[in-house]
Amino acid sequence: MERSAARAVDTYYRVLRWPYQLESDARGDQQFWAHLAARFAGGRVLELGAGQGRVTELLAATATEVVALDISPAMLRVARHRLAAWPNVRLLLADMAVLALHQRFLLIVAANDPWSHLLDPALRRAALQRAAAHLVPGGHLVLDALWFNPTALAAKLPPAGERSECVLATRQGRLHVRAHWRCQLERQECEATYSYHWASGWAMASFRARYWLAAELSQELTQAGLVEVARWGDYHFTPWHPDRSPHLIVEAYRPP
Ligand SMILES: C[S@@+](CC[C@H](N)C(=O)[O-])C[C@H]1O[C@@H](n2cnc3c(N)ncnc32)[C@H](O)[C@@H]1O
Repeated sequence: MERSAARAVDTYYRVLRWPYQLESDARGDQQFWAHLAARFAGGRVLELGAGQGRVTELLAATATEVVALDISPAMLRVARHRLAAWPNVRLLLADMAVLALHQRFLLIVAANDPWSHLLDPALRRAALQRAAAHLVPGGHLVLDALWFNPTALAAKLPPAGERSECVLATRQGRLHVRAHWRCQLERQECEATYSYHWASGWAMASFRARYWLAAELSQELTQAGLVEVARWGDYHFTPWHPDRSPHLIVEAYRPP
């Protein structure tokens, strides 16, 4: 990722670090990742785009070692604090598109799609290939991809895009979340603006994101030498449906 793009990602998360943490704690995917971690208990795990370390904690509970990397120093500062009590976690400031570690992993995890910040298709492909290269033979990659079903995507198209809002009851009180997504089919990209209001303050920031097409993701996994073994549509392991699923989560493995 270019330095200016990495700085933009870091700025987004630095501005929103506090409400983002509260919002992502309410994401509802914790059981999913804990279940996955238990399947690979005792193995070495790599987490891509680990952010503030909320999924890292779940992985650390069963893994011998977790290497958790992120391109944002602001995110890693929060993660360092959160994970201080886990001696089996190593945090790395790194770009997953150019990753070259000396270790190989039984499980590689990408929660809440870090690929969304990689806009250039060549970098996205490079990152998937780097991930595949860091798996032991027989190791698995699980990616919670940024993907929209046709109805969700149609709602985000011009001219207005999609505005949504909700109020979350968090451990710090009520958090009002407003989101505005505007996507372009031709570029497979969106501009997303989030604003958060809470009792004593507010914060707002925007980022550009690229979403996956389901067929494209399959193709890229194959291209990276991986074999897709499961595709779920939500965090309850419901099989994926192209029209109805709210999410696209894939599991692929590196053949021995
Ligand atoms: C939507 S957040 C998800 C954070 C975390 N996985 C979670 O579920 O809470 C995406 C994360 O990917 C990171 N990221 C974006 N591009 C990256 C890159 N090229 N290499 C490593 N991390 C990246 C961002 O800094 C951010 O922390």
